[in-house]
Amino acid sequence: MSELPAPPALPILPAPAPPCEHELVLKVIPMPADSNANGDIFGGWVMAQVDLAGSVLPARYIRGRMATVAVNEFIFKQPVRVGDICSFFAHVTRIGRTSVTVEVEVYSERFAGQGQYLKVTEARLTYVAIDADGRPRAVVLPGAQ
Ligand SMILES: CC(C)(COP(=O)(O)OP(=O)(O)OC[C@H]1O[C@@H](n2cnc3c(N)ncnc32)[C@H](O)[C@@H]1OP(=O)(O)O)[C@@H](O)C(=O)NCCC(=O)NCCS
Repeated sequence: MSELPAPPALPILPAPAPPCEHELVLKVIPMPADSNANGDIFGGWVMAQVDLAGSVLPARYIRGRMATVAVNEFIFKQPVRVGDICSFFAHVTRIGRTSVTVEVEVYSERFAGQGQYLKVTEARLTYVAIDADGRPRAVVLPGAQ
């Protein structure tokens, strides 16, 4: 019995270099149902994703219930389009007594432009650690008494 030829090696494409040094906290692709009357993505959809992405690093510090207390700044720099791969990068800018503030940068890779990152949004949000009654509680940093 003759041996079958070896299958061709899978072409593994390298990951593109990230557009910034901050931590990748979310990737998501908007669908047509997320679009507005212009055919671009509805700003409220972007805001909801940023709120979720922004909570990832505060959760590491707060380790329990928390609430968004403020969207301190939100800038839509470029429209997001259906089918973009949206990457959310975040970094902590302040740790207060009960709150953690983060900056979130959002980059789109257009449908046919994989690896070419376009900054579409930047935002700064603050999350508060809350107790079971919804009142602010102190953020206890790892290693602190
Ligand atoms: C979050 C909440 C518990 C805070 O209660 P509060 O009595 O206003 O608390 P405080 O005034 O003590 O502020 C708590 C922290 O928030 C910070 N904070 C309050 N307003 C802020 C603002 N506009 N920007 C940045 N930080 C703010 C304070 O500086 C403090 O942080 P620190 O202790 O690290 O310095 C309360 O406002 C709340 O329940 N809000 C609704 C949250 C919610 O439902 N979010 C989802 C929105 S749909």
